[in-house]
Formats: sequence, C-alpha cells, structure tokens
Amino acid sequence: MDLKKKVLDIIKNKGETPDKLLEILLEVQNKTKGKYLSEEALIIISNELKIPLSKVYGVATFYSMISTKKRGKYLIQICNSSPCYLNGGKMVAKTFEKLLNIKVGETTKDNLFTLEYTSCIGACDIAPAIKINDEYYGNLTPEKIKSLLNVLREEEC
Ligand code: FES
Repeated sequence: MDLKKKVLDIIKNKGETPDKLLEILLEVQNKTKGKYLSEEALIIISNELKIPLSKVYGVATFYSMISTKKRGKYLIQICNSSPCYLNGGKMVAKTFEKLLNIKVGETTKDNLFTLEYTSCIGACDIAPAIKINDEYYGNLTPEKIKSLLNVLREEEC
C-alpha cells in the first residue's frame, strides 16, 4: 500500500481533527517499516489536518516514543525513570552500547537494533527493565542482556 493511502486511511479512522494528531502520528509510525515518520508522511498529515508542518514536526520530535529517524528491526527501549535508573539502568545502557557497538539513539549498521531511552514502561517491579518491540524484559544483568541479544541474532540466521 502506498504511503499516502495508508496515512489517509489512518486519518479517516482516527478522525480528521487536530486533536487526533498524536494518535495519528503514533499509528502512522507503527505501521511504517522502520517504525518512524518520514518527511513525506509528516507533510501528508499536515495537509490533511490543516496543521502547519512546523507544528506537526514539533509534536513528532517532542515525544520520545516518536522518531523521525528510521529504526532497526528490534527497537530496544531502555527505561531511564528513577526505579530502573537506580536499579542498574546505567549498566543496562552501557552493556547494550558495548555489545552492539553503538550509542543510545543509534541504529546498528545492519539495521537490526536501535537503542533508545524511554520513560517508565510500567515494569518497575522488574527493574531494571527494557522493552524490545512489544516484549518486556526485566531484572537485567549483563549476562541476561548478552543471551537476549544472542537469541535475537540467532533468529536472524
Ligand atoms: Fe522503569 Fe517503571 S521505572 S519500568
């Protein structure tokens, strides 16, 4: 399905009113390969909702759960809210950075993994916690992170 048709369908379903902007941005992003909002998608949304492109872009770049950069197949979101941060969140980020050879905010060259910070994902009882796409993982240690990445890499072979 071409991008314009996909975006128009989502807008039609959500309602063509400016107050639906955030919901529309999220759904367009989540239904786009690479889980991001391209400039083309932002322009279509701006035109259809009659909201200035600068405002649409402002909303798209304000929220950490929205990205205007293409992401990898596995979006690793590291919780950096207090309970996780105080229970080893920094170790989690450092371990992923070391094993993937990228920094938080970057995507591996093979487009498999993207590392991002996020605020609380509702898994504080298993802090430090992360979310990979729609799955939650907690009580993380460097060993657990290593085996988690090995499993994901094996799935790609
Ligand atoms: Fe990390 Fe809630 S603070 S999941």
